[in-house]
Amino acid sequence: MKNIFLFFSLLLFMCACVQNKTYTALDPENFVSTKDGKETALFTLKNDNGMVAQFTNYGARLVSLYVPDRDGNFQDVTWGYETIEDYFNSTDIYCGPIVGRYGNRINKGKFSLNGKDYQLTLNNNGNHLHGGTQGFECKVWDTEYVSKPGNDVLKMSYYAKDGEEGYPGDLDISVYYSLTDDNALKIEYQATSKDTTIINPTSHAYFNLAGTSDVTILNHVLKINASNFTPTDQSLIPTGEIRKLTGSPLDFRQPTAIGKRIDTQCEALIYGQGYDHNYILDKKNKQITEAAVIYSPESGIEMSVLTDQPALQFYSGNFMDGTLTGKYGDVHNYRTGFALEAQNYPDAPNHDHFPSAILNPGETYTQTTIYKFGVKE
Ligand code: GAL
Repeated sequence: MKNIFLFFSLLLFMCACVQNKTYTALDPENFVSTKDGKETALFTLKNDNGMVAQFTNYGARLVSLYVPDRDGNFQDVTWGYETIEDYFNSTDIYCGPIVGRYGNRINKGKFSLNGKDYQLTLNNNGNHLHGGTQGFECKVWDTEYVSKPGNDVLKMSYYAKDGEEGYPGDLDISVYYSLTDDNALKIEYQATSKDTTIINPTSHAYFNLAGTSDVTILNHVLKINASNFTPTDQSLIPTGEIRKLTGSPLDFRQPTAIGKRIDTQCEALIYGQGYDHNYILDKKNKQITEAAVIYSPESGIEMSVLTDQPALQFYSGNFMDGTLTGKYGDVHNYRTGFALEAQNYPDAPNHDHFPSAILNPGETYTQTTIYKFGVKE
């Protein structure tokens, strides 16, 4: 009898642990440290529906994001770590930061501006990726809560010096994170430069809408509002071609499970080792429009991505190898997280027919991208 009692007590305790796994407040103490003489910390935003988002100023990162599932339980849908030390040790997967100065790849790290050649640092198979070896994700951003009409806003700013990672121009960038009462995480960017430069910052948040990273994202049903993409070579550098998606396993105009065609033996999926492609959004101007909608049948959580950017990089977590362990002890295994990164096209500075990534003195770079959550029965 005593044993049966013990067994049921243990079972109840385990259930409580599983429950907690979905909504464990992170300890701010675990984010207090210093890097390059600047203090790191954990910051929190909430909305009136109980949605919570947490950030660290190390890389202007999203750390956790609690959204309601179809049963009204809050699930943490973004990847992250429980301590700042874990972030210091896991830079190469770009877990949750704002990447830049140029997110995505630049061919051999070379480009020319106003007749002058520039060489950026090379950190990805002889190419430049996500701003280089010490990109924005490694920097401690100045952070404050600011009042704007509506909800609280977290303002994170970074001053990138002329020459940093090879880029020209002192660049002043601010990112404003807010949680709106229609359950959206809104990210607004603003940047100015003293000299002509190039810019393409993006949020590199990973999501798993099942509410746990223990399962792959292959069941997620995805729709991307794009009829064209930019094919690449083997090192994922665009060839310059703009190709129609019609008939391709990359076409997500009709909602389709990510896993359905991911292992198709076609050049693009072989080079990406799965989805890792730049989708050209079906839009004509800089209006904020729906870029993608993705849904987890496990939790019922649906996320819409809205942006004023011309393109969206869809990355299905193909380079995850299980060597990193995130929050709740979840191992970051192969294809257990995805990223939908709103941005300009990769390598745009080397292709005149891609949208310009140039920022001139006196101009202001702006971007608005929104990750909006709902449920589907
Ligand atoms: C993505 C990129 C992938 C990979 C990943 C980081 O944005 O498209 O190729 O580099 O970041 O591991």
